[in-house]
Amino acid sequence: MALSSKIIGVGSYVPPKSYTNFDLEEMMDTSHDWIVQRSGIEKRHWVEDECTSDLALQASLKALKAADMSADQLDMIIFATISPDHEFPGTACFLQQKLGISKIPAIDIRQQCTGFIYGLSMADVYIKSGQYKNILLVGAEVHSKGLDKTPNGRAISVLFGDGAGAVVLTATKDSGIFHTELRADGNFAKELWTPAPGSALGKERISKEILDKGLHYAQMNGKLVFVHAVKRMSEILVESLKKSGFSLDDVDLFLFHQANLRINNKVAEVLNIPEEKVFNTIQEFGNTTAATIPLGMDQAIKTGVLKPGMLVAMAAFGGGFTWGASVIRF
Ligand code: UT7
Repeated sequence: MALSSKIIGVGSYVPPKSYTNFDLEEMMDTSHDWIVQRSGIEKRHWVEDECTSDLALQASLKALKAADMSADQLDMIIFATISPDHEFPGTACFLQQKLGISKIPAIDIRQQCTGFIYGLSMADVYIKSGQYKNILLVGAEVHSKGLDKTPNGRAISVLFGDGAGAVVLTATKDSGIFHTELRADGNFAKELWTPAPGSALGKERISKEILDKGLHYAQMNGKLVFVHAVKRMSEILVESLKKSGFSLDDVDLFLFHQANLRINNKVAEVLNIPEEKVFNTIQEFGNTTAATIPLGMDQAIKTGVLKPGMLVAMAAFGGGFTWGASVIRF
């Protein structure tokens, strides 16, 4: 029987300090009502001084524990983040060191809000090929240190939170990941992006002028992103289910990226998915980009919503544009 890959451990971590929308009213020209009505977010966690690999470490240790595995049994680390510890090397190397292991490959990927789905696809292919057996896949972000927390940044800064989610995948002969479908369209790269630092900015990757212009802060064409997110996530969910040999009705639980509660409600409406089958965490954590899906998975396990044997469909959409969906037997 052919090899499959299966998630055998899940863990998550958010920094202890949370900020309500009312707290943000004190910093930015915003209101609790605006944030809840437009996005569904009620609070988010922001670090005091931790960095991305610190959050990732906590989530990874929990995932390893749940998998009943020690770090030295891992064959590879895949780390999805757009808020790395440093410009280089990748945060996967820092995480590897903090886990107390060495030698195994440690790969950083970006892929923004679709990072976890892209990472899942990579892990699945490595496992199915027989090259690696046990892979740690992490999505982690410290957004709070890169947000403009003045009224100028309110359109973006109220949406994002810090957090990490991790899964351990292993080779199995049971059914695990059925299919992961990935897409990207670089024609929209500048509709949701952070321009600086970067080699396309002129003579310097970063300069006082670049900072004065605020090019190191994320920029987003919110309405366009919203429309594409609903369309693309709906399409790719149906497609990946079809390629997995399932229908929407077969799915026990949907785990979507958490960018906006209205996006997820709209996808559910378009596809006629009962609301109770969509598990959302954005109310509590905001948008944690690459971490949203594994963080949601862990919360769903902890609250008894996600149980072994369930058919789970995941979908995400984000900067790039990138989008993807995956269908797994949990
Ligand atoms: O994870 C990556 C993918 N990201 C997404 O999928 C995000 C997709 N887009 C969205 O979720 C929504 O477009 C947003 C939540 C970002 C914004 O909602 P919107 O309904 O598209 O609002 P808007 O940007 O059109 O802003 C409407 C108004 C503007 O005021 P005027 O021009 O109508 O007077 C903004 O200045 O709301 C104002 N506004 C705010 N007001 C209070 C913008 N940000 C804020 C704020 N608080 N934080």
